[in-house]
Parts: sequence; C-alpha cells; structure tokens
Amino acid sequence: MLQIIRIDKSKCIKCQKCVDVCPVSLYSVKRDEKKMKKSIVFSDTLGKCIRCGHCIAICPTEAIEYKGTDLTFNFEEASYPEELLNFDDFIKLIRSRRSIRVFEDKPVSKEKIGSILESMRYAPSASNKQSRKYIVITNQNEIDNLSKKIANMIIKARFLFKLRYILFPFIKGVLRKRLLNPKTKHSLKMFLEETTKGRDLIFFNAPCVIILYAPKYSQMTGPDAGIALTHGMFAAQALGLGTCWIGFAQEYLWRSKKTRKQLGISSWCNVYGVMIIGYPKHRFERAPPRKRLTVQWLE
Ligand SMILES: Cc1cc2nc3c(=O)[nH]c(=O)nc-3n(C[C@H](O)[C@H](O)[C@H](O)COP(=O)(O)O)c2cc1C
Repeated sequence: MLQIIRIDKSKCIKCQKCVDVCPVSLYSVKRDEKKMKKSIVFSDTLGKCIRCGHCIAICPTEAIEYKGTDLTFNFEEASYPEELLNFDDFIKLIRSRRSIRVFEDKPVSKEKIGSILESMRYAPSASNKQSRKYIVITNQNEIDNLSKKIANMIIKARFLFKLRYILFPFIKGVLRKRLLNPKTKHSLKMFLEETTKGRDLIFFNAPCVIILYAPKYSQMTGPDAGIALTHGMFAAQALGLGTCWIGFAQEYLWRSKKTRKQLGISSWCNVYGVMIIGYPKHRFERAPPRKRLTVQWLE
C-alpha cells in the first residue's frame, strides 16, 4: 500500500504544487519569519491520506519519498494529455465502440487480456480505494457452465411469470414491473427456444469473460466498476477486440451466493460487472442512433 514518507528537502523547489493538489490538505507551507525562509511540510497524523499519489505525480523534482507500491509511470505526454488525442478522434473512438455479441472462433491471448486489465487499473475510483478485483475465465467449459447456470435462472423466471397473478402481492420494484411488461412473456419464450437449440444467449460463445467483484461497503462501488469496465472496453477496441457488458450474468452472480463461493469470491464482496471479450466477427458501418440529450442548463 502506498505510503508517503517525507519530502526530500534537497530536491524540493517549494513550488507548492503538492499543497495545491492534495485533496485532503496534507501538505502545507511553513514559514520561518526570522530566517525569512519557507518550507513545504507533509503531515498525516490522522491517517487521512487517500493514497491518490497526486503529490508524487505532480512534483517536478521527484522530491516526494514514498514506499509500498510500484514506481510511477513516467511519460512525456502525462503533462499534456490534450495532445494525445484530439476531440474529433476521441468522439469517433467513442462512437465506434459497440457491444459485440458475435465473435470469431479465436482465443484472446493472455497478453492482450493483461493489457485490458492494465487499462482498468488506471480507472479512477471513489477515494482512490481501487478495491476492484477480477476473475478472468478463458476455459471454455467454465464459461459454458456459468452460461448454463445463468440461462437456468432466466428459464426459472418463466415459471415465475406463469404464476405472476398469484405472486403479485409479494413482488415489488423492478421485478414487478418486468412481470407486468407484455414483452417479458415473448422474450422468455424466445430465450427458452434458442437456448434449447444450443445458442449461448448469455456470453455469446465469447472466448473470455471478466468478472469484476468488490467489497459491498460503498454506494460508489457500482460507479467504480462501471468506469473500470469502460476503460477495458476502449482498451479492447484499441487491441482489435470487442466487448459486451453482461448484465444478466451480473444479476445472477449478485444473487447466487453459491456460485460466488465456487468462484472464490469472499462473502464480504459482490459482483459489480461482467464483460465478455473476443474478436468481432462483423464490422459495423456506422454508429447506431442515440436519443437526444436531456440537459438542464442552470446558467
Ligand atoms: C450495464 C449494462 C448491462 C448490459 N447487459 C447486457 C446483457 O446482459 N446482454 C447483452 O447482450 N447486452 C448487454 N448490454 C449491452 C447493451 O445492450 C448495449 O450497450 C446497448 O444496446 C448499446 O449498444 P452499444 O454498446 O453497441 O452502443 C449491457 C450494457 C450495459 C451498459
């Protein structure tokens, strides 16, 4: 775990950038009026440091001494991120990302999966907790078994649907809404028919599944997971791969304590995202339509 040790006074040029960027104000300017001198001090007696590493990342002279983590990643463009990608290219990148559900029968190398995970490592998280953990499944039998378990959950929902008029008084929220929706009956019927024919409508025969799990402690865990998987989606795209977030799998794993245990997920954690990865079989010609923005400007 990252720990700031001290400021190396021989290197510090007193630019105060660390004072400005520390989100919990652990750096301050100390003035010695008699000697007409100032120095920058770091103090964290209450252990308030969120280990964001911003002080390390901004210091022009590498004066912040720290321990407990990998070395920083130095690259020239870190200071000028706007020069890495212009907005026109960025928006094209965003618009060209698709959820991929048809894959080539080709495995994804461990190296590429590693690169995708590396991009997720750099995703922001609330209070820089970085508590996300991952399970990568590339074993086809494991993927098929999990897919079947999830499909069974959906097929069981069909029975629930049949009993909906009896169950209504006991069902609330989203599930009640879903049972009321006339589309549900048709979707469930189609799902059962296609699954019986052997189609994988959960993971779409993808060669890789990534499960993101994390401690259940915070409301921010969901957003943290969303950002990490989004990083992974764009990284995959840059590597010629396609991805799709699988909400069905997430919902099943959220509910199934038994499967979580089988996957080695601790009881204080739950699943916050599931993503499939593979080589897209088709190329899209254009971005699909999107709703118009709903924005309220308070100027
Ligand atoms: C949280 C979340 C859950 C999703 N769950 C599923 C899913 O279970 N199965 C599926 O085929 N697609 C799933 N998708 C993909 C969406 O259907 C897809 O993102 C949407 O149709 C827009 O298409 P695009 O991603 O190509 O822009 C999910 C997407 C998100 C963000």
